[in-house]
Amino acid sequence: MSLSPAFLDELRARTSLSALIGKTTKLQKAGREFRGCCPFHNEKTPSFYVNDDKGFYHCFGCSAHGDAIRWMTDQRGLPFIDAVKELAQSAGLEMPATDPRAAKKAERQKGLHEAMEDAAAFFTEQLHGIAGADARAVLEKRGISAETARTFGFGFAPDARNRLRTALKSYGDAMLVEAGLLIQVEGKEPYDRFRGRLMIPIRDPRGRVIAFGGRIIGDGEPKYLNSPDTPLFDKGRTLYNLDRAAPASRKSARAIVVEGYMDVVALAQAGIGEAVAPLGTALTEAQLERLWRMVDVPIVCLDGDAAGQKAAMRAAHRALPMLAPGKSLAFVTLPDGQDPDDLVRSKGAAPMEKLLAETQPLVDRLWQAELAAEPLDTPEQRAGLKQRLADLIRPITDASVKYEYQAEFRRRFDAHFSPQRRPFVPFEKRTGGKRPAGRSGWQPALPVTEDAKKVHAAGIDRVLAKAVLAGLIRHPAEIARHMEVLGSLRLADGALGRLFEAVVDLAVEEQALDSTRLVTILARSGLGDVAGELLRADTMPYSFTQKSADPVRAQADLDEAIAILVARPEVDMMLADATSAMQSRFTDDAFERQVALVREKQALELRLANLVQANEDARALGPEEN
Ligand code: UTP
Ligand code: MN
Repeated sequence: MSLSPAFLDELRARTSLSALIGKTTKLQKAGREFRGCCPFHNEKTPSFYVNDDKGFYHCFGCSAHGDAIRWMTDQRGLPFIDAVKELAQSAGLEMPATDPRAAKKAERQKGLHEAMEDAAAFFTEQLHGIAGADARAVLEKRGISAETARTFGFGFAPDARNRLRTALKSYGDAMLVEAGLLIQVEGKEPYDRFRGRLMIPIRDPRGRVIAFGGRIIGDGEPKYLNSPDTPLFDKGRTLYNLDRAAPASRKSARAIVVEGYMDVVALAQAGIGEAVAPLGTALTEAQLERLWRMVDVPIVCLDGDAAGQKAAMRAAHRALPMLAPGKSLAFVTLPDGQDPDDLVRSKGAAPMEKLLAETQPLVDRLWQAELAAEPLDTPEQRAGLKQRLADLIRPITDASVKYEYQAEFRRRFDAHFSPQRRPFVPFEKRTGGKRPAGRSGWQPALPVTEDAKKVHAAGIDRVLAKAVLAGLIRHPAEIARHMEVLGSLRLADGALGRLFEAVVDLAVEEQALDSTRLVTILARSGLGDVAGELLRADTMPYSFTQKSADPVRAQADLDEAIAILVARPEVDMMLADATSAMQSRFTDDAFERQVALVREKQALELRLANLVQANEDARALGPEEN
């Protein structure tokens, strides 16, 4: 069927826009126009105008704008063709002539729709009859109120092969088979598809029943049996509850995707009416498009178990080629493998609302997944991460979104691997890989909280730092190996910080420094006294500060001391972050992280103690004989 512009003009002319909009939105006459509170955004003073002469509505608050057809698609959430059909019907206009085959199909669809409505009525009747006792008990046990059951049209299919078939006999077996209500096996009598199940009608955007989901009463397989694809029902294009969620989402400016029927129902009962669910499959492109017609950033809130999280990732990847400026996805992760139904039933709407208010943007979800996918200890592994990020971005088709993703990932990558933010890697795992001498790139690029910064600057152990500095002045050849980590120690303030800086700078300029020459040069900058004193400090309890120590041992101990020195503020900083995260919201994850960091801190103390102890043991034994 093709719709001509002339037909659409006729349709607009015959439709009273104010009457159409006035059905659901309160309007008042204001001069030649009508005025009301905008149904597209929340407002208290009216800035929404409807002009019948021009056939347009316009909101001065949110810029919503359109004609009668647009109203039907944007406000009612109908597909274009359905919007036109419904307007034509109320305007008394015949839809343009279609070819006879299409007309016949339309006729048959009408029959199918009626069959589905009758089936739904039959199931509801059964639910309230004698046979429905078990199903009613299930509803009660799940906390579904009578009102919710009515709203969603719950029903019950009796455990028999011919009850529905008999009740809907007038349609004939062929149509009931086509509607997916009966199963036909070659050469046998057709029989009822749904038997002994709690029935959930699936509706199209106009609210017409097009399919059913049937949940088994008690345990058994499959848990849910769904209608097959039929002329009315295309599983991959349908979202459960879209007919009710679309208008609700205009009010709340939110749309939520959950995994199952029961999640949708439980949320609606708790006052969150803007949830939809795909029908047991991964989100398709058609479904994503539907969601983006509701809001710019639908929230994906799948079950908190492994399967749900995997499905969320799949949705994230599928969305990439479809991203456009302003259009994205956001994610909510439910705690402890729960689903929204569990959460709302046990704790009410409040924790759910809280989670929905703190969604994770798509970019974070993708970044985290890639970061966690593989170890990142070696340059090759980090290059691998870069590669994966590039692969991830490739399918994005919108040039400007793509550019922003590239820039964002580059920023995150740099920030993540700059030494000051770099998560602590145990000493044994450090590669000693060198960085180019240009040190400006060592500044943290990620916003670090002010608290964390203070901890970092103050967190450097000055006693240990002094010992390390003494060790470096005694063994200047070691400086080059530690250039990367020493950069982060420049944060230390006062004379110690200046000395660190000077020592590192000198080592950058001159590769073959010996101890005496280093002190001489430092003296020129007025740092000679401090340096000389450090060199004489034979009282420090470390091998690398002592003249007589075994050089191999001194080198190893110095490595260890530097690792501890650098790791400590790092751990303190992460601990401060984890603690403030815990204070703002207690979660098991945050708690576990905090505990793990406290352990890590203790482990560092132990390593430092071991370093001192080992040195004392070595000294007590005297020089080794070999
Ligand atoms: P779940 O198994 O997570 O459903 O499947 P649920 O809502 O938590 O079920 P209850 O709470 O035990 O009743 C999520 C969705 O996957 C589809 C259904 O659409 C279901 O709502 N599904 C699940 C099937 O299609 N078939 C199945 O056998 C199971
Ligand atoms: Mn579930």
